[in-house]
Amino acid sequence: MGNLYRFGISLDKDLIDAFDEHIRGRNYQNRSEAIRDLIREELTRKQWNDGGSVAGAITMMYDHHKRELVTKLMELQHDYQPVIISTQHIHLDHHHCLEILAVRGESSRVQELADKLRAHIGVKHVSISMSATAEHLH
Ligand code: NI
Repeated sequence: MGNLYRFGISLDKDLIDAFDEHIRGRNYQNRSEAIRDLIREELTRKQWNDGGSVAGAITMMYDHHKRELVTKLMELQHDYQPVIISTQHIHLDHHHCLEILAVRGESSRVQELADKLRAHIGVKHVSISMSATAEHLH
């Protein structure tokens, strides 16, 4: 964190009570850190919507017994090679594989990759976890 800037916020008592209860449940030590996280989240969402550069992970679960699925998913990952930094494959049980793709690049490309992965029959779950890159993370 660079220069620290302090400011006051006026809120309804009901709203701050609800917020305090919420952040206690999330184990925040104080309101400042909770509010910092809200601001970061909002800026990340903005960067995501504006088509900026993002970094994060795509997590997916699939049934590797589905015909051709493993080959199709592999081909798709090769097509998106510039966006995928690394992958981790976990054999969950006899049928299911969990794959975590670390990704970095234009948010629209990352979203497009996730959508294409999700569209395959046999892929049971896909989620994206995104952070904005660099400047908004302090
Ligand atoms: Ni597997």
